[in-house]
Amino acid sequence: MAIEIRAARLDERPDICGLINLAYDAESYGPSLANPVESVGESHMDPHDRPENTRILLADGQPVSTLHIWEREAHVCGDTVHFGIVASVATHPDFRRKGYVRLLMKNAEEYMRAEGWAYGLLFGRFRTYGGSIGWLPVGEKRSQLTWKYVVSAGDCDSPGVRVRPSAERDIPFLSRVYGSRYSRFFGPVVRSHDYWRRWCLKRTREGEYLTVLRDERPIGYFRAGAGHDAVDEIAWTPAKPSVGAAVFAAAVSWAAQKGVSAVSFWIGNDEKTGLEALQTAFGSIARVYCRPDGQAADCDDPTPFRLANRPDGVGIMMVFLNPGPGVLGTADSTESLAHLMAHHSWIYLDGDAM
Ligand SMILES: CC(C)(COP(=O)(O)OP(=O)(O)OC[C@H]1O[C@@H](n2cnc3c(N)ncnc32)[C@H](O)[C@@H]1OP(=O)(O)O)[C@@H](O)C(=O)NCCC(=O)NCCS
Repeated sequence: MAIEIRAARLDERPDICGLINLAYDAESYGPSLANPVESVGESHMDPHDRPENTRILLADGQPVSTLHIWEREAHVCGDTVHFGIVASVATHPDFRRKGYVRLLMKNAEEYMRAEGWAYGLLFGRFRTYGGSIGWLPVGEKRSQLTWKYVVSAGDCDSPGVRVRPSAERDIPFLSRVYGSRYSRFFGPVVRSHDYWRRWCLKRTREGEYLTVLRDERPIGYFRAGAGHDAVDEIAWTPAKPSVGAAVFAAAVSWAAQKGVSAVSFWIGNDEKTGLEALQTAFGSIARVYCRPDGQAADCDDPTPFRLANRPDGVGIMMVFLNPGPGVLGTADSTESLAHLMAHHSWIYLDGDAM
């Protein structure tokens, strides 16, 4: 069988969406990517989309395997690097277990390396990508990332404060407060105006951005998950605990109005600033392990994770591509990069949607 791997043309994308749906529909967990197909189908919302980022493998001229790469830039402890997210990996059910995805993944890796990107990420099954394909789970030992703070959504009095859905006119403000908080982390995506407009604010399937105003001036924002009870991204200005406290309190009273009884906050590896603000608002709050949906789990729960390893053998995996600046300077292999990401508590914010 003659095998060819190449970038897909834009006019081939509808057929590629069909191939992805066919591949997922054949599984017990399908049709999870039914219309619109994640990433390829929504790529018109992605400001960084390029035709070359959709790769296909053809067997005797027929497209049978595909994957799509989201091109991104990450904050890495004060530096920035380009990276790629591999998504929508699929092989036609009649062409499985022939090593086609292994070939396609190698091709994707070479493409991303030649672009000069630092690393690749994907969310998938360890057994598919961890063997001969050679990717590794990120942050294997990062149980601390699973801590969340769960606040009861009772009455929360915040005079002069109100919450409204974030809109395009908020972008300069959102961008400024996001940058001042999250650029110190390892992993969050660098967001351009267009990224905020087309990706963060428009892609509301999994959650929404809310702007917090005091006396009608924006003082912060938060992103609430689709169930209104989990806040995994929150930032404020000026950087005072009292301002942060008002934003936390606003998030809780907003959630209470939505009928939610408790809200979980993930405050990341910025525990001091986040915690100070949280405690100013609510006093001492215990931290608990949370399941990925934000709900508090039993502390003895053996499955702590946040967007990382999952007990069912699914999680975020990575591959080393090129040396990067700053803290990335010592990484020269997938193993050393995985170690470094765990050490610096690599994170990926839900608003960036992997
Ligand atoms: C997962 C999927 C993309 C694999 O495609 P494929 O072309 O059959 O994969 P390959 O033959 O290149 O195999 C790649 C690796 O995965 C392993 N693998 C693939 N299917 C597997 C299965 N059902 N059980 C166990 N291992 C499997 C292979 O053994 C190989 O690893 P190895 O080289 O270390 O042995 C395909 O089954 C599919 O389209 N599934 C539905 C969509 C989906 O789940 N996509 C992936 C989301 S993470």
